[in-house]
Amino acid sequence: MSERIELTKSDLAQQEKCMEDVRRMLLERYPNRQPLAFTHSYGCQQNVSDGEKIRGMLAEMGYGFTNQESEADCIIFNTCAVRENAEFRIYGNVGNLKRYKKQNPSLIIGLCGCMMQQEHVAKKIRESYPYVDLIFGTHAAHLLPSMMKKRLEGQKHVEEITPQDGVIVEDMPIRRDGTVKAWLPIMYGCDNFCTYCVVPYVRGRERSRRPERILDEVRQLASQGYKEIMLLGQNVNSYGKGLEEPVDFTQLLRQIDEVEGDFRVRFMTSHPKDCTREMIDTIAQSKKLCHHIHLPVQSGSDRILRLMNRHYDTEKYLGLIEYAKEKIPDLTLSSDIIVGFPGETYEDFCATLDLVRKVEYDFLFTFIYSKRVGTKAAQMDDPVPASEKSKWFRELLSVQSEISQKRCEKLIGSVQQVLVDGPAREGTGRVGGKSGGNITVEFPGDASLTGQMVHVRITEAHNWGVIGERQE
Ligand code: 5AD
Ligand code: SF4
Repeated sequence: MSERIELTKSDLAQQEKCMEDVRRMLLERYPNRQPLAFTHSYGCQQNVSDGEKIRGMLAEMGYGFTNQESEADCIIFNTCAVRENAEFRIYGNVGNLKRYKKQNPSLIIGLCGCMMQQEHVAKKIRESYPYVDLIFGTHAAHLLPSMMKKRLEGQKHVEEITPQDGVIVEDMPIRRDGTVKAWLPIMYGCDNFCTYCVVPYVRGRERSRRPERILDEVRQLASQGYKEIMLLGQNVNSYGKGLEEPVDFTQLLRQIDEVEGDFRVRFMTSHPKDCTREMIDTIAQSKKLCHHIHLPVQSGSDRILRLMNRHYDTEKYLGLIEYAKEKIPDLTLSSDIIVGFPGETYEDFCATLDLVRKVEYDFLFTFIYSKRVGTKAAQMDDPVPASEKSKWFRELLSVQSEISQKRCEKLIGSVQQVLVDGPAREGTGRVGGKSGGNITVEFPGDASLTGQMVHVRITEAHNWGVIGERQE
C-alpha cells in the first residue's frame, strides 16, 4: 500500500483560482454566448463517475453542455484501456474529431483517463493526432482547470501524465448525470495485479476514502432525493486498508445502512478472495442493501485461476455462493467471465461452463481475452485461434441464456420493487427499470413514472428480464 495522500487545501485553491481565470477568459472569447462542451466517458462506472467530475469542473469554468460534437467548443473523451476493442473505437472517434477542428480552429480537444495514463498511448496521440490539445492521465484529472488555462493562454499542447498516484481528490465540483441514481466511489486504484488486467497500471495503488467523507456524501444524496446509490471500487472488499482509523467494508456498509432516507444501495466490484461471510450476513440483515452480489469469477478452471493470479479456487468460490444463497433466499448473482485466457484449453473452458451451470447466475458479463501491453499475461503463449475462442464464447452465451430464462421464470408471481428508468422499447407501451436484484422489469406505463420506485407483480419471463403489472 502506498502512502495515502489527500490533495492539500492549497492545491485545491490553486485549481479553484484557475477555474475562475478560465471563466473570465472564456467570457472574453465568447462575449455573446455560453461556450459548449461535449464529454464522453467510455468503459466502467468508475470512469463514468470520473466523467461527472470533469463535467463539474467544466460547468464551474463557464461551459454549458451539448450532446452534439459538431456544436461543441470543447470536446473531452474520458478513455478506457481495459480491452483492445474499446481502444480501437476511441482511436476511431478521435480521428473523426479532426474535421471539427478544421471547421472550428478554436475548438479545444482533450483526452483523459486510463488510456492516456499509458506512455505508449500518449506518444501515439502526440504523433498521429497532433490536433489534440490536452492529454491527461487518471492521476491528473483534477488538473483540468490549470491545463485549460495554459491552453487558453496560448500553449498549443498541454500534457499532464504524472506517474504519481495515491492521490485522493475531495471537494472537486461534480455534475451528476442523473437525479435518481448516483455513483459514489469509496476507493480508487487496485493492488491485485490479475495477470490479464491493465487497471493496476493505469489507476495506481489502492486507496480508500475516509468513511466520514463517504457518509457525508450518502446523506447529501439522500437529501437531494437520489433513490439508488452505487458504491464503487475495483475491490470493495478490501476497503479501509491504510486508513488511520481502520474501518472495513462490512462496517462501512452497516454505517451507510443506518443513514436516514428512502434509497437503496448497491456496490461493485467484490473480489472473491476478499469477500467475507460477514459481508453476506450484513446484506441479509440490512434495510437498504440490494439483494444482489456481483462476484466476478473470471474462470471455472483452477489452473486458469492460478495463471490469472486470482488467489481463490472454485471450491472457495462455490462455498461463498452456497453460503450467500442460504442466507439470502431471494439473492441474485452476476459475474464477469473471460473466455480464451492464454493457454486456456477447451477442457478449462468446459470447467467454466460447469461452474456457470452450478451457480446459475442471473446474468453475466462475458469477455473474450484481450492482450494488454505491460501485463504478465501478455507474455504468455496464446495458441488458441480467435475463431475458436469466439466459438467457445457463443457456447457460453447460449448456456447462460437458458439459465437467465429459468431464473426469470422463478420470479413469476413475485412482487418486485422497481426503480423506473424510463420508456421501454418503442411500440411496447411499457416502461422499464431494475428490481432490487438488478433484473430488468418492464410493465405497462408511461414516461411520467420515470424515477419512481413502484411495486410490480411479475407475470412473464424472458432471457433478458421479466414483464409484469404495476401493483397500486
Ligand atoms: N481481457 C478481457 N477481459 C478483461 N477484463 C479485464 N481485463 C481484461 C482483458 N485483458 C474483464 C474482467 C473484469 C472486467 C471489468 O473486465 O472480467 O472483471
Ligand atoms: Fe483488474 Fe483484478 Fe484489479 Fe479487477 S481486481 S481491476 S480484474 S487487477
